[in-house]
Amino acid sequence: ADIPVLTIDGPSGSGKGTIAQMIARELGWHYLDSGAIYRVLAFASLKHQIPALDENSLVQLAQTLDLQFHLDDDRLNVLLEGEEVSQQIRTEKAGNAASKVAAIPAVRAALLQRQRDFCQQPGLVTDGRDMGTVVFPDAQFKVFLTASAEERALRRYKQLKEKGIESNLSDLITEISERDKRDSERKVAPLLPATDALILDSTELGIAAVYEKVCSYCAI
Ligand code: C5P
Repeated sequence: ADIPVLTIDGPSGSGKGTIAQMIARELGWHYLDSGAIYRVLAFASLKHQIPALDENSLVQLAQTLDLQFHLDDDRLNVLLEGEEVSQQIRTEKAGNAASKVAAIPAVRAALLQRQRDFCQQPGLVTDGRDMGTVVFPDAQFKVFLTASAEERALRRYKQLKEKGIESNLSDLITEISERDKRDSERKVAPLLPATDALILDSTELGIAAVYEKVCSYCAI
């Protein structure tokens, strides 16, 4: 019960994953990337050819999903049924598919305990949309990290470019805005800051500055 938990929620591209991983490494705490669970679930549903509207099968898949995470020095490795899927689940397509399965209440309910099981000594850093509001409402430290849609799309554009992938900035802005809208307006666990969260806008802050602010909030 007195295991320290830091939740970092926010929209896609806010930098929450990067910051959460840096802090988990620094403190030697466990790390839960809750978005990756929804991404893997969506990916697995395609792999097993489950129709998007077949809720019962999706819930069953959520309950039995064979998923493993390994946090390395420079990245999070994600394994589905023992197979590396870290790259495949990071595409915009996978993110959009994740946001669709994530809007189904029974799917979220099926994944609740699995997420809570990550809370182990010496502590947990977790990122997502509802970590501070639904999954870990009693967390000691809660951050809501945001940035303008334009800035988040630009970061994504640069990331893709570094990987040698050309993309269209205005398409990215549209996609990000649509996903934000779906995540914010859904009935179950919408993207919302917890009332007791520190709200940080990273539009004009670099990673180092955000990291420093989160550390000082947690008194690290
Ligand atoms: O954070 P990430 O972009 O990986 O999340 C992918 C999608 O999974 C989000 O767009 C959101 O719909 C869903 N998600 C969620 N609750 C979380 C984390 C992610 O609904 N805690």
